[in-house]
Amino acid sequence: VTDSSVAVVGVGAVGGYFGAQAWRAGHRITLCVRTTFDRLVVESRGEAIEVEAEVVTDPSQVQMHQWVLLATKAHDTKSAAPWLKALCGPDTVVVVMQNGVEHLERVAPLVDNSPILPAIVRYGGEVTAPGRVRHHTYHHLFVPEGELGERLVELFEGSDAEIRLTKDFDKEAWSKLVTNVAANAIPALTMRRFPVFRDERIAALAVGLMRECTDVARARGVELPASLPENEVARLADLPDDVGSSMLYDRLAGRPMEFEALNGAVVRIGQAHQIPTPLNGAVVALLGAISDKAKQ
Ligand SMILES: NC(=O)c1ccc[n+]([C@@H]2O[C@H](COP(=O)([O-])OP(=O)(O)OC[C@H]3O[C@@H](n4cnc5c(N)ncnc54)[C@H](OP(=O)(O)O)[C@@H]3O)[C@@H](O)[C@H]2O)c1
Repeated sequence: VTDSSVAVVGVGAVGGYFGAQAWRAGHRITLCVRTTFDRLVVESRGEAIEVEAEVVTDPSQVQMHQWVLLATKAHDTKSAAPWLKALCGPDTVVVVMQNGVEHLERVAPLVDNSPILPAIVRYGGEVTAPGRVRHHTYHHLFVPEGELGERLVELFEGSDAEIRLTKDFDKEAWSKLVTNVAANAIPALTMRRFPVFRDERIAALAVGLMRECTDVARARGVELPASLPENEVARLADLPDDVGSSMLYDRLAGRPMEFEALNGAVVRIGQAHQIPTPLNGAVVALLGAISDKAKQ
């Protein structure tokens, strides 16, 4: 499939990178942005990709597209509703490229009848200025097996992005959530980078947060390896000294933090299954109070 129309809603670290790759694959790209810029430039593998695409700030300026790549932070999803309304028709595929486990719940109420493809993003990158993205590691999207996933593979053919089709998408999403409930929140709360996980007290807290998440996953029918929390904490502790979490960077920059879609999801889904999640509840309370203060 060549020359599809692809709109990117939320042109940050993830949207910028995958939008640039879709452009490289030969498609017509529309960049739907909140903070505007002249041109998207993505630094990746030693080169600067200058993307030729229309940059639009007003949903009334766009038409229906074949694909929408939705890559806002989870808490900004609702604010993207006017874009989705303008861009989506019955054949538009909306690819939700966000963290968490509630992709469908978040987006389904905002589109009429367009098919939604949830994606787990295995990628590391950052925005260095509006419209300027630096890619660090990985370039993968994990999506459920099936026709939509196969079409996404075709969409990105000829680019650096790699689409992996998974038989068990829920397992993929929950495993990533296990990491995120500690890897994002603890650096944000302590304002320290990943070496904080070398502290035994913090390692124990991280394992506790992750174990609550594996308990809730099990109640949802997703069985994760019992050793996952310990292994993940050991891996985080071994990362280079200068690595931090995106939630830490958001806190340092005074931006909203994505904790409701991560620790908040563990608490919400835990409650629905009567699984206690006191540690994740404490994290949500602390990050909520910090966020409220930042808004004042
Ligand atoms: N960055 C990573 O390495 C990474 C890795 C794996 C997963 N993820 C996940 O991927 C998702 C996206 O993260 P990200 O790091 O790419 O976030 P990001 O860099 O903060 O980018 C989000 C973009 O969405 C824009 N936006 C927000 N609301 C909007 C709206 N209503 N209309 C148009 N644009 C809007 C923001 O605009 P402003 O510039 O105005 O804020 C920003 O450019 C998150 O769920 C994150 O957890 C990220």
